[in-house]
Amino acid sequence: MVLLPLRQITLPEPSAKAVDTWLGELGEQLDDLGCNRYELCRRTLYDLYYPGAGSYHDRLEDPDTPAATRAALLALDPRHVTLEPEYYCEVDESRYAKVKPLLWLWQSFDRSPLGGGNVAAGVALRRLLAGHIFKRCGKNFKCFQFVEFSFGYNLEVGDNVVVHRHVLLDDRGGIVLGDRVSIADYANIYSHTHSITDQVDVTNATTVLEEGARITYHATVLAGVRVGAESMVGAVGVATRDVRPYHVNLGIPAKSVRVKPNAPTAGEVTLDSAARRSKPDA
Ligand SMILES: CC(C)(COP(=O)(O)OP(=O)(O)OC[C@H]1O[C@@H](n2cnc3c(N)ncnc32)[C@H](O)[C@@H]1OP(=O)(O)O)[C@@H](O)C(=O)NCCC(=O)NCCS
Repeated sequence: MVLLPLRQITLPEPSAKAVDTWLGELGEQLDDLGCNRYELCRRTLYDLYYPGAGSYHDRLEDPDTPAATRAALLALDPRHVTLEPEYYCEVDESRYAKVKPLLWLWQSFDRSPLGGGNVAAGVALRRLLAGHIFKRCGKNFKCFQFVEFSFGYNLEVGDNVVVHRHVLLDDRGGIVLGDRVSIADYANIYSHTHSITDQVDVTNATTVLEEGARITYHATVLAGVRVGAESMVGAVGVATRDVRPYHVNLGIPAKSVRVKPNAPTAGEVTLDSAARRSKPDA
């Protein structure tokens, strides 16, 4: 076995200071109960996308501003865009209205020159925003770029959770991530499903990933599944049924192929999982 822990890297002093100052100011504004999040999002995105371009309102009101530029300027304010979850019938409009500007800021930052793969700034911004979007967000949340949510407000996150790039966290029916959960690149966690005969017949079901569960590359967890503590869904697997604690489930549908060697005694694992699971894998 080769242990390859992550290296410690810090930004050069000028950029570290600029990012710290910016996020400090952003955090103070978000903590202010009177904060207009839509204006804050618009101002922040203007600073990110049009640095040094003068007044936003002057550019918007200038009759010579091309229509495409006007549309792009307006879209910096999330009141002028629609996001897919707004179309869902069961959206809680007032809760979504509170998180929408922060979700739009998150997504737009990821596509900006400052964002994308910029780990140091990106992880810090997302950690800040997550605390104001999720139902609960524990310590040290680490999230890489291009992660997507449904409502955001139906997501509960424990301590030391890591979410890698291009993950989909569909929290439409609720997602609970226990402490130390890790979700690898391009994985999908769903919490809603459609009837096979009627597309608008939707079932929402909370999906739970217990503490220490690992969902690996390109794997999918379907709505309502409980992935047990310290278990793993292998690359490209589809968890259609509960995964027992400490089990490694592979394939489509994901089935248990082994129990991790660090599992407690078989008796304890079986007892523990039997108490929690409703529809275990085969
Ligand atoms: C689950 C996993 C760890 C299995 O590793 P392993 O226990 O060492 O298994 P092996 O590589 O010895 O393979 C055992 C068998 O399972 C098969 N297998 C391995 N991974 C599989 C997968 N994801 N899906 C289906 N079958 C798989 C192998 O082909 C082999 O089959 P065989 O016995 O018929 O030859 C690994 O394949 C995996 O999915 N890793 C994901 C990488 C990861 O950790 N990502 C997260 C980083 S943040």
